[in-house]
Amino acid sequence: MAYGSGWCSPAAVPSSSASSTLPAPTELSDPSYGPIPGESDVYTTYDGTARPFPGNITGAVLNTTSGAPEADDVLFQNLLSAEWIIFSFYQQGVERFNASTFVEAGFPNTTYERIQQIRDNEAGHLRIFQDQISTASIKPGPCQYAFPYDDPASYLVLQTIIEISSMAFLTGLELQARLGASRAALVAISATESRHNTWSLIDNWKSVPFAGPSDTVYPYANQILDFTNQWVVEGSCPSQNPVYPAPRQHLPQMNPIKGTKSILPGSELVVSFTQSGNQPHFVEKDYYAVFFHGVNNISVPFDTKHNSTTIPKEFEALGIIIAVIADAEGATTKESVVAGPLILPQSPAILSEIYLSS
Ligand SMILES: *[C@@H]1O[C@H](CO)[C@@H](O)[C@H](O)[C@H]1NC(C)=O
Ligand SMILES: *[C@@H]1O[C@H](CO)[C@@H](O)[C@H](O)[C@H]1NC(C)=O
Ligand SMILES: *[C@@H]1O[C@H](CO)[C@@H](O)[C@H](O)[C@H]1NC(C)=O
Ligand SMILES: *[C@@H]1O[C@H](CO)[C@@H](O)[C@H](O)[C@H]1NC(C)=O
Ligand SMILES: *[C@@H]1O[C@H](CO)[C@@H](O)[C@H](O)[C@H]1NC(C)=O
Ligand SMILES: *[C@@H]1O[C@H](CO)[C@@H](O)[C@H](O)[C@H]1NC(C)=O
Repeated sequence: MAYGSGWCSPAAVPSSSASSTLPAPTELSDPSYGPIPGESDVYTTYDGTARPFPGNITGAVLNTTSGAPEADDVLFQNLLSAEWIIFSFYQQGVERFNASTFVEAGFPNTTYERIQQIRDNEAGHLRIFQDQISTASIKPGPCQYAFPYDDPASYLVLQTIIEISSMAFLTGLELQARLGASRAALVAISATESRHNTWSLIDNWKSVPFAGPSDTVYPYANQILDFTNQWVVEGSCPSQNPVYPAPRQHLPQMNPIKGTKSILPGSELVVSFTQSGNQPHFVEKDYYAVFFHGVNNISVPFDTKHNSTTIPKEFEALGIIIAVIADAEGATTKESVVAGPLILPQSPAILSEIYLSS
């Protein structure tokens, strides 16, 4: 305090770097600011191309109070960062395509409108998750995202994969939630994602809309969230954003090798680890590929010489199968997982064909 206390002390003078770390009280931390989800039709039928609220803000919303975070703040920070990815995926679709691009690619004349409406729902999720985070915690802001699609068909494949993967991490987050109200919100959100997915299966893919008696449960939600980091442009996030996901294991990611013909149950699966700087280190012990489908999992030996295994023939070829490499049968702890997860879309068949050829 050599320079005295108060606003004029050097520490309090906003410099460009200091000001970005000083909490800026903002209307956004007030849930009654802006359109309210469940009350405003902005989150259902807005049909513009400009980013809808709160997708039009940049930067993180800083905490306005100090003190202990609420019990599920970290969960909703993770979910809000994931939601920025999902919202941005739909917003990109709205900006890059129009009704005729989908029609010319053989999809219905309602597809573009639905993509806009789903984008609106996802904007509502952004606001709902912002509101679930207490004022003692930062609400993460948007980064830049690059998604692997180049035309309407590969966009809609990714759309289906994103929706069905979101079911998997939402079920996992249920296991982390501490408050009953958070669990109820997670169920309501996963039901909404499921409607988005069902619409696409019926209208776009003209396929059976169902995935069997249960969607796939994967217990370690943060690993699925970490998988979505591949779409985040490195270094593009607001500096105040917390690590995504927290905690982050940074597991090596994998894909079926190029030239894989089938990822149906019973197929041989050879994987390659896709991040050059992040490879698994196999030692002399048994490894398993653990496959999750519905509410069950099946472990199959993983051959670390050839990085090969077999997708269990027992599973129905519906919905998705999630595969991880683990050093314990059943991948009974999150620490036992050494690579993955890998999402293997099963139905409709056209989806896995486009997925394998892209
Ligand atoms: C975002 O949208 C809201 C609601 O339409 C509007 O009030 C606000 O000014 C917009 N903010 C920016 C930065 O464009
Ligand atoms: C925001 O959170 C940080 C870290 O917990 C804390 O140091 C800071 O005092 C909080 N800001 C306000 C305005 O209370
Ligand atoms: C739709 O997009 C295509 C391709 O990007 C473009 O050629 C066409 O003019 C657009 N149509 C309308 C109605 O904007
Ligand atoms: C959209 O397609 C449906 C059925 O294929 C058709 O009946 C309808 O007239 C089309 N609407 C427009 C606006 O083109
Ligand atoms: C299997 O993966 C490991 C770990 O990245 C790698 O060292 C090895 O070369 C791979 N084996 C084959 C046959 O590609
Ligand atoms: C996989 O299934 C086994 C056998 O039912 C179970 O003991 C294990 O906990 C399951 N693994 C996970 C990660 O849920």
